[in-house]
Amino acid sequence: MYEQEAHSLLNTILDDLEPDICRRDLRHFYTRLGANFYAIYTLFNRLYGQREDFEQQLGRLVEVAARQYIARSAELRAIDQQRERDHEWFLGQQWVGMAMYLNGFANDLDGLARHLPYLQELGVNMVHVLPIMECPAGASDGGYAVNDFRNIMASAGTMDKLREVAATLRKRDILLTLDVVLNHTSNEHEWARRARAGEKQYQDYYYLYDDRTVPDMFEETMPEVFPQTAPGNFTYDERINKWVMTVFNEYQWDLNYSNPAVLIEMLDIILYWANQGADILRLDAVAFLWKKIGTTCQNEQEAHIILQLLKDCCQVTAPGVLFIAEAIVAPTEIIKYFGEDAVIAKECEIAYNASLMALLWDAVATKNARLLNRGILSLPDKLDRATWLNYIRCHDDIGLGFDDADIRAVGYDPHAHRQFLVDYYTGAWDHSPARGQVFGFNAKTGDARISGSLASLAGLQDAIERDDEPAIASCIELILTLHGLLMSFGGIPLLYYGDEVGTLNNDAFMLDADKAKDSRWLNRPTYDWSRVARRRERGTVEQRIFDGIKRLIAVRKSMSAFADFNNRELIAVSNDHLFVFTRNSLSGAREHVLVVTNFNDQPQPLDLGDLRNRHHFSMGRLQDAISGESPAQAGDTLMIPPYRHYWLVAAA
Ligand code: GLC
Repeated sequence: MYEQEAHSLLNTILDDLEPDICRRDLRHFYTRLGANFYAIYTLFNRLYGQREDFEQQLGRLVEVAARQYIARSAELRAIDQQRERDHEWFLGQQWVGMAMYLNGFANDLDGLARHLPYLQELGVNMVHVLPIMECPAGASDGGYAVNDFRNIMASAGTMDKLREVAATLRKRDILLTLDVVLNHTSNEHEWARRARAGEKQYQDYYYLYDDRTVPDMFEETMPEVFPQTAPGNFTYDERINKWVMTVFNEYQWDLNYSNPAVLIEMLDIILYWANQGADILRLDAVAFLWKKIGTTCQNEQEAHIILQLLKDCCQVTAPGVLFIAEAIVAPTEIIKYFGEDAVIAKECEIAYNASLMALLWDAVATKNARLLNRGILSLPDKLDRATWLNYIRCHDDIGLGFDDADIRAVGYDPHAHRQFLVDYYTGAWDHSPARGQVFGFNAKTGDARISGSLASLAGLQDAIERDDEPAIASCIELILTLHGLLMSFGGIPLLYYGDEVGTLNNDAFMLDADKAKDSRWLNRPTYDWSRVARRRERGTVEQRIFDGIKRLIAVRKSMSAFADFNNRELIAVSNDHLFVFTRNSLSGAREHVLVVTNFNDQPQPLDLGDLRNRHHFSMGRLQDAISGESPAQAGDTLMIPPYRHYWLVAAA
């Protein structure tokens, strides 16, 4: 948009740029900046317009974007242009991701490069490497306490090696996703050290207070993220005799984005990682970016403005790079991280689908799909050019972030129901085969979350220990069903490393003092590659799960209906145990898929009358695209076996 005041300010900023920037060929940079500048100016003005140095700060923002554009390699710039032409490139059904801790999967970057054929054997073509930036030697919140945002841990490799691996991934058509921890630094980061040394400039990067007056005001409304291990949101630092805001662990200092210098530093860091060859950046803990007394300090409007600004600037410098919002918040809040009041995504193009994840675990425990159906029905439609990251397990805990109104609507009491789920997954409930642990119990509110690996939560550990083959078979069926849903729901499926071979809980963390109190380490495995090799022996648990997931991936990639163009329709069916939706591709080769899941341990009937008006499915024989089988049919009823997941298409 052309607006005179912003335009004349842009001209002043460009006139003032250093000669070494002006001399460069910045054609693409300038055209994109021209397109986005009015938005950048308006948003920056909303956050910092009252400051006397507003124009100078905005000038610095533009300079950072220009310098990183200059630093961007010709190869990456060419990818940017190709993705601009094919701007919905990431919505296709061909993408399948896996998240991993590098040291657990393959030790280091060399190991990752060696194991790329393994990922390709499975069909994975997007790798999310959990944080590898330099962090403290002891506790580091699994890498989420960063000492140096521009360097990786020596144990992972060197920056040269990282760029080399990024180039190898590009050659193999595998996307690289890296974390950028926006909300905080470790207390050993140079900024924190200089703040402690008394440098005012860096003290202003954080929330530091001389006494408890302001912290106490904040605490009135701020929830606790790690109530068991890091209660409260402030930590007293005796070296500077001040209270520091530490929402997560006491060694993670929250950055203060009301200071524009912080925003500009973090933009520079985001663009730096884009230039190292990351295709996608996972922006950590984005709900927490803005703090305001009297609020929960989560999901504030300003946090969204920060993300829009970062996106607008990234589009100018590196438009091929996507953002993932890691916002594990209420379903109606998550969706806002794509952007509000917009047609296409304007904050993050991708968001963790934490709602689906929690609802799937609900369906597994209750053996019915009541809350799942209700929760999905309540999910607002997402924007165009935006997609979900669908996952069932990750390196974190499972939070039971359902909407209370939905829980009530399906006839449960919210508190009692959440308690049931925690009991079910931690094995406190008598009939449960799950082997999880409690995470983040809050004695004040009674809230709790759940840790544990997919296989152990799904009952596989219990079944293996009891040597109960029928139970093992039904757990494998359930694990494949959950993966089938990730593949077909709409969005990018994100597998979690180890789940593809049924990895059980990793108890070893309890022996490590830096980890013992954080049960999320239960689900952060270290690969035993000799066990992984059993995927080649017929009949092993590893082979059955690996081959099952591999098949799901291959079939997903062949079905255009699974590309994510808001082409899912949930179908209300009369049987509570079933979760049924259609996926339709209407352009090119028309394809209609009826996705049916039975969450119950007994066969369940699907009344084809429930599919009224969807004549693609009510006529002729249906066939499962995964197995090639046709479900048993009697008259107008299909029988869906226990825990079975079908992708039904009209039989040829
Ligand atoms: C994100 C990460 C989690 C970490 C937290 C604080 O939620 O996924 O592992 O503890 O941010 O950085």
